[in-house]
Amino acid sequence: MSLKLNTKYLDAFVNKDELSGIKPQVETAAKTLHDKSGLGNDFLGWLNLPTDYDKNEFSRIKAAAKKICSNSDILIVIGIGGSYLGARAAIELLKSPLYNNLKKNTPDIYYVGNSINPNYLNEIISICDGKDFSVNVISKSGTTTEPALAFRIFKKMVEDKYGKEGAKERIFATTDKSRGTLKNLSDTEGYETFVIPDDVGGRFSVLTAVGLLPIAVAGCDVDAIMRGAAKAQKDFCADFDNNDCYKYAALRNILYRKGKSVEMLVSYDPSFVTMSEWYKQLFGESEGKDNKGIFPASVVFSTDLHSMGQFIQQGSRIMFETVVDIKKPKTDLFLKDDAENLDGLNFLTNQNMSVVNRKAFEGTILAHTEGGVPNIILELDDTSEENFGYLVYFFEKACAVSGYLLGVNPFNQPGVESYKANMFALLGKPGYEGQKSALEAKLG
Ligand code: PA5
Repeated sequence: MSLKLNTKYLDAFVNKDELSGIKPQVETAAKTLHDKSGLGNDFLGWLNLPTDYDKNEFSRIKAAAKKICSNSDILIVIGIGGSYLGARAAIELLKSPLYNNLKKNTPDIYYVGNSINPNYLNEIISICDGKDFSVNVISKSGTTTEPALAFRIFKKMVEDKYGKEGAKERIFATTDKSRGTLKNLSDTEGYETFVIPDDVGGRFSVLTAVGLLPIAVAGCDVDAIMRGAAKAQKDFCADFDNNDCYKYAALRNILYRKGKSVEMLVSYDPSFVTMSEWYKQLFGESEGKDNKGIFPASVVFSTDLHSMGQFIQQGSRIMFETVVDIKKPKTDLFLKDDAENLDGLNFLTNQNMSVVNRKAFEGTILAHTEGGVPNIILELDDTSEENFGYLVYFFEKACAVSGYLLGVNPFNQPGVESYKANMFALLGKPGYEGQKSALEAKLG
């Protein structure tokens, strides 16, 4: 298990003095984090989570996963933002983006409550028809509109099919330990509940029941994930010179101060797509405030070389790339000789697809750096459970340190409220009556 920061392609963009120049600031940011003396210090539970978690609840998560696997063809995961992205990222990375199409003895998993689009919901509803299903509703606040709406629909579906008593066996709620609408509803209905600790914010919660229950249902080894995260917790306490997490935070801030205000997370593996969505939420909600922040974007190559490649090579010079270089793919494909060679591809005979993918990586990194795009490389041996846990912790800590370097509170998200207040007012939610007519007048 390892992750290595490779800065070989940064020489033309960042010099050694810049890294030593920012080092004291990173050390101060890291100390502030560990001393719990910085902004948002009541949301630092994730820092020690890999070694300090509720073992009893962890066993309950595994037991619930076993039960869901034994009685369900489908698990419906209801949640939005930090309450679903981590689980989906893990399942797609560790199993496959085509997880539901694999031959397997675990339930299919569908994610709802992450949008309000009726078509998507209707499709999932019809997929459940004639199938046995369970529901894991996840919301820390317990009041987020998107999952609450979806849960109203799926709760009724479960009750209609299995009755109120049956629903107790099939609805699992992951929420606050004592507060909120979802907690109250679950206690009233007698559902099994799992806790999102008070001091762990949504986007830092993948290593709690939020992520672990769906991940375990998909047949992933959650013990190995926690082992990987625990190793990262230890490794990334090292001093700056021996700490790739701190160096990564330093480098992205050096680049930001030079006008590189967009970070593109790059991978060469479609199973990394939702992991990139998770990274975007983590960094976007943590850093994008007070009119500051690196805009987190993502691409999958070589796919997006045919869509975004032109811009990256020659468009506005505002971005840097962070490439997650997964050294060993889960499987490989050997290219055979074709006697006719009508496609002209025999020069690749006896080659593995993974080698072709690596040449695409090498060719791209040379082209992009020559085109003026700094490239940071994060080398990961493979997509094992341990490495997933390791990578999650790496990004979480880098994000926290990076946020402190930027001078923002990485653990709040006040800006998310603006759209909600408008939407509630426009929908006529009690308590928002005052704003309704003013907003409607603006809309004309
Ligand atoms: O990171 C966050 O805090 C947010 O993205 C939340 O996870 C998201 O808004 C969902 O909130 P909740 O779990 O309260 O429904």
